[in-house]
Amino acid sequence: MSPQQRLGQKEFEVAVGIPAGSLDERTKALLEKTPLLFSALDDQAQAAARANVAEDIDRGFTVVGEHRASIWRDAWQDHLDDFIGSGHALEALNPRFVGGTVLLRWQGAYIEGVTERFELAFLEIFRDWLFRTYLADASHLYEFGSGSAFNVAAYAKLYPQTSITALDWAPAAVKIADLLGERHGMKISGRRFDFFAPESGFEFAPNSSVLTMCALEQVGDRFQPFLDFLLAKRPQRVVHVEPMLELYDPDLPHDALAIRYHQQRKYLSGLLPHLRSLEKAGSIRFLKVQRLKFGSRFHECFSVVAWEPV
Ligand SMILES: C[S@@+](CC[C@H](N)C(=O)[O-])C[C@H]1O[C@@H](n2cnc3c(N)ncnc32)[C@H](O)[C@@H]1O
Repeated sequence: MSPQQRLGQKEFEVAVGIPAGSLDERTKALLEKTPLLFSALDDQAQAAARANVAEDIDRGFTVVGEHRASIWRDAWQDHLDDFIGSGHALEALNPRFVGGTVLLRWQGAYIEGVTERFELAFLEIFRDWLFRTYLADASHLYEFGSGSAFNVAAYAKLYPQTSITALDWAPAAVKIADLLGERHGMKISGRRFDFFAPESGFEFAPNSSVLTMCALEQVGDRFQPFLDFLLAKRPQRVVHVEPMLELYDPDLPHDALAIRYHQQRKYLSGLLPHLRSLEKAGSIRFLKVQRLKFGSRFHECFSVVAWEPV
C-alpha cells in the first residue's frame, strides 16, 4: 500500500470536471476542514480487490423493483425510529449504506478511505458544491426518492428560505421530511410518490428544480413514466446524481465489474441515451454530464446529469 494521499482542490476539480484553479472558496474551505485522506493500492492489491469484488458479485445481489418496496419501508422506518429516539438529531438521518465500506472506487482504481466514513465526508462536500452550482436559484426544490431526507436537510441549511418537497414511496421517508419541518423549522414537507406511477394532477411550483440522488437507479429501465412526467410538468431544471451505466468503459476491468454489479441489480439503464436523443431533437439542454469516477466498493452513484427543458 502506498503512503496516504489526499483528495484536495486539484482532485476535486478533476472529479467534477471544472477547470484547474476554478474551485470556489467555500468548497476549498470545506476540503481544508475535513481532509479526505486515502491510501492508494498497488497493482497486487488492485488485483486482489477486483477478485474479492468479483466473488461478491458472483454470490449475487437482490434486484430492484416493486418487490423491494417493503425493504425500503422497513429501512426508513428504522431511520425514523432512530431520528425520533435521538431527539430529532440530523446525524441520525445519515443512511447506513453511505460510507460503510473502506474500499472505494476513485479515478479508475480502488482506494482505501482513511478518513472515517470517507464516502459520506466526500458526499457532504460534493453535495454542497452541487447545490450551490445547480440548485441555488430554485424557488422550490423537489427531491424524488428522498429516503432519509438527509439531502433536503442539507439543502435547507444552505437555503432556509426555499420551499422543499421530499417525495418517496416509503411512508417513513415522508414522515421524516414532515418532522424536519415540524421539529427543525425547515421549509420541508414530505409527499408520497411512486416513480412507476406519477400522479397526473401533480403540479410544480413556479421556478422549481428537481433532484434525484441514487434514487432513480431503483427503476432499472422503467424510467419513462417519470421522464414523461418531468417533460409534461416542466420544472426549470433537473439534476440527477445517479449511477449511469453508459458512462462506464466496458473495456476496463475496473469498470467491467461496476457494469456487472449494476446489471445484476438491474439498476438504471437507458436514461442517458434517451436524454441525449431528446437533446438532439431540441427538447432539452444539458448543463452537465459528468462521471466523478468516485464510488463505493461496487459501483459509482456519483454521476451528474443536469438538464433543462427547452
Ligand atoms: C438508495 S435510496 C436513496 C435515498 C436518498 N435519495 C439518498 O441519497 O440517500 C433509494 C430511494 O428510492 C426510493 N424508491 C425506490 N423505488 C421507488 C419508487 N418506485 N418510487 C419512489 N421512490 C422509490 C426508496 O424508498 C429510497 O428512498
